[in-house]
Amino acid sequence: MRIQTTTEYNHIDDLHDEAGNHSPAADEKNANGILRADAKTRALVILPDFHSHSRRGDTLDNAVGETLALRSASVRLEEAVGLALAIDLDVAETLIVSLNKLRPATLFGTGKVEELKGLIAARDVVLVIIDHALSPIQQRNLERAWECKVLDRTGLILEIFSLRAQTREGRLQVQLAHLEYEKSRLVRSWTHLERQRGGLGTVGGPGETQIESDRRQIQDKITKIKKQLETVTRTRGLHRQSRKKVPYPIVALVGYTNAGKSTLFNKLAGSSVMTADMLFATLDPTMREIRLTNGQRIIMSDTVGFISQLPTHLIAAFRATLEEVLDADLIIHVRDIAAEETLAQAQDVEQVLETLGVGSDNSDRQLIEVWNKIDLVGGQDRDAIVEQSIRNDQTVCVSAQTGEGMDRLVELIDRQLSRHHSEIDITLEVPDGKVLHWFHQNCDVLNRYDRSDGSVELKLRVAPEKQVGLERILNQINISTVDG
Ligand code: GTP
Repeated sequence: MRIQTTTEYNHIDDLHDEAGNHSPAADEKNANGILRADAKTRALVILPDFHSHSRRGDTLDNAVGETLALRSASVRLEEAVGLALAIDLDVAETLIVSLNKLRPATLFGTGKVEELKGLIAARDVVLVIIDHALSPIQQRNLERAWECKVLDRTGLILEIFSLRAQTREGRLQVQLAHLEYEKSRLVRSWTHLERQRGGLGTVGGPGETQIESDRRQIQDKITKIKKQLETVTRTRGLHRQSRKKVPYPIVALVGYTNAGKSTLFNKLAGSSVMTADMLFATLDPTMREIRLTNGQRIIMSDTVGFISQLPTHLIAAFRATLEEVLDADLIIHVRDIAAEETLAQAQDVEQVLETLGVGSDNSDRQLIEVWNKIDLVGGQDRDAIVEQSIRNDQTVCVSAQTGEGMDRLVELIDRQLSRHHSEIDITLEVPDGKVLHWFHQNCDVLNRYDRSDGSVELKLRVAPEKQVGLERILNQINISTVDG
């Protein structure tokens, strides 16, 4: 796959040397940039492990420390590798590097930087992914020391988002996130250099004019994209309004990245949304009208996968994409129950849903949990998980791959969606095509019995918002109803 995600503004700081001058070397780097290579890029993935220290709270704040404590380093490394594979990198080597403290200049200590330099050269690595946030100075110093490109976690996630964004809105959001990331780095980088040079008094200033102009250019682009986004969001608002008029309930799939949402979507829909063993296979929500096996028609929405430690400014940038869930009558939280870190993943999802204003205590918007990939769990673990899910009537175990448990899931969806529905029995002495059509379009026809005298007995299930329309139709044809 050709990775072409670096837009002209992405690496604006790469294009200028320390004095703020345009650098030909940087030009070459950009033109032959690692992320633009046709062949697979050889990468090294490093997980800096502050685990034990975060618990003491001396390097990371408590909330992050607690979340991290739930994830073993190897699981976090596995996730980072998954992210790297999502942009089709050739992961040549992976490493967990224990750190006692953060070094402001290079993140790692001098000895470790040197040691890694040897490894990078020996393994022909051209890109190092560091599963942590890097300051612009750390990134630049490491790139110099290792003579290769370095991406931090945010940079990597942005690359993935760039690749995956399909709709215009998704693409604009990614561009906005990218620009804001670059803008913050430009400012910090500049002030840091300014201070450093001021102290030494040997080299000239960092080219204030150039940096100011870069910053202005970025700001202009941000303003333009925000305007475009406003227009797109307005149109989407209209789509949403028209979708609200659809007589079927909206069901949104949410969940941690790679939990199996697309697979489940396909299983339920019998459709073919892209699935791949890659993180973030779905960035933009995919909406589809589907008919469940019990006949219930719904609008199913497959949303972007959640990820741990997603930088706050990315959450804000992707909020509009995730806002789709706010339209949903039912939210299905898909969990990879076989994953070692399933609990921590679930907490991440719940946290993000909360920031969107979706709480499990929200009675208007139902939330159920699907414990997917049960086929990967065996023995006593499996028994315990299944038993636990049975005890909770908002939870069901399934395998989207084998189809196990899908009947129970459909039942649960149906039960949740019809919580406030009522059932009525009707007899049409003279069946009327138009009336029958209205019933089928607006109610669930649970049962139909054609009598020998030509009349028809029906059992209907009616949503509260359809009750008035139904009564009007029945009055017109002079029929009284019996509650089921
Ligand atoms: P994102 O789009 O990245 O958020 O991922 P997703 O949640 O949509 O996951 P997707 O459906 O793409 O599935 C990820 C991987 O898990 C794929 O390789 C699937 O084949 C696999 N998978 C999904 N469901 C199951 C399951 O029930 N059992 C097993 N064994 N594998 C599954």
